[in-house]
Amino acid sequence: MRMVDIIIKKRDQLELSQAEIKFFIEGYTKGEIPDYQASALAMAILLNGMTSRETKDMTLAMAHSGEVLDLSNVVPITVDKHSTGGVGDKTSLVVAPTVAACGLPVGKMSGRGLGFSGGTLDKLESIPGFRSDLSIEQFINQLKAIGIVLIGQSVDLAPADGKLYSLRDVTGTVQSIPLIASSIMSKKIASGARAILLDVKVGIGAFMTDLSEARKLAELMVEIGGMVGRKTVAILSDMNQPLGKAVGNSLEMVEAIETLHGAGPADFKEHCLLVAGYMLALGGLAKNEDLGKSLAEEALMGGKSLIKFREMVQAQGGDIRYVDQPSLFTKARWIEQVKAPQSGYLAEVNARDAGETTVLLGGGREHKGDPIDHAVGLVIEHKVGDWVKEGDVLFTVHANDQVKRDKAVSKILNAHRWCDEPVDPLPLYYGKIG
Ligand code: URA
Repeated sequence: MRMVDIIIKKRDQLELSQAEIKFFIEGYTKGEIPDYQASALAMAILLNGMTSRETKDMTLAMAHSGEVLDLSNVVPITVDKHSTGGVGDKTSLVVAPTVAACGLPVGKMSGRGLGFSGGTLDKLESIPGFRSDLSIEQFINQLKAIGIVLIGQSVDLAPADGKLYSLRDVTGTVQSIPLIASSIMSKKIASGARAILLDVKVGIGAFMTDLSEARKLAELMVEIGGMVGRKTVAILSDMNQPLGKAVGNSLEMVEAIETLHGAGPADFKEHCLLVAGYMLALGGLAKNEDLGKSLAEEALMGGKSLIKFREMVQAQGGDIRYVDQPSLFTKARWIEQVKAPQSGYLAEVNARDAGETTVLLGGGREHKGDPIDHAVGLVIEHKVGDWVKEGDVLFTVHANDQVKRDKAVSKILNAHRWCDEPVDPLPLYYGKIG
């Protein structure tokens, strides 16, 4: 078999066989297939799509590119969650400790920032010392000991996704339903989750901008989960405006810690409780998601989620003083508050512009493996539908470069669209599948 023939076949809109998909994934994982051929195939898949059979084969090939954990002897059940990626989406940082604090173990493999959307690992690594590169043995031991562990893509679990994910980030091949579905589901299968809650984001700041496309992605992932015997539910949630206020790694970490302390923005807290409620229902700790949500709220407001988060940070080498005192996080050199230039109702706060601006400030990657600046980003004060008075604080830019700061100010001013008439707030959800 030759890689070039596989690329040509997909370029010509033909269906790849299971053997061809396996050949690509195994060869790419071993380093026998170079990045340029993998990029060409990723682009052909993005342009021409894949059938659900091809996507399922791709998912399983990626899951089996490393070890596939069986945690049934370690904990009774593990539930995982995964977001398809959004702007200001720091949900895992609050949800994972909340669910674990309720008694349901969470062993989660998270990703890094991808394109304009942030990644949980990049956020966690803004805590000095925090390690996400645990071995499988360490992953299992920590899950057993404290019921929570959050790791990165390891060389042992779904390594094919690790390589492909960073390649897609810099080759314009993120927005593809089969590539996203196989990337997410391969990680979930490899890390041993028995039940999975998928948070499928839809809107201008998501990879799926269209509701029907997002629904297709959700349905495909729920179908793949079912095929491999994992209870899977997907919710469709809004990503037209940033979730919460903070966008950028340590700023989001601080917002998540504030939420764990019982404060934090209302939309973000509501989203975390909903996701946690579904996970608790999936894991059998609550009869339904509403009861799960109440359990989660008790844990969050009673301080148990914070204690669990602190335990996890400590177990993974992070400096817990940052959890107790978020003011310790390194600040950017320029912190510029921008006031509303007029009064009016907000008709749009463009999440995509916010994500792209954070990348421009240095908070995301332009090239595979680039270092990122954890301190930079934005704090956006208002939501669609808010009435804002001229002179109120509209947003704050955190920058380490003056030219980038000025560009960010103008881009985020333009990301706000005004209206004289009242505007309805955006819904948080558009439904569930599974
Ligand atoms: N999240 C993932 O894990 N993979 C993708 O491809 C997109 C979002």
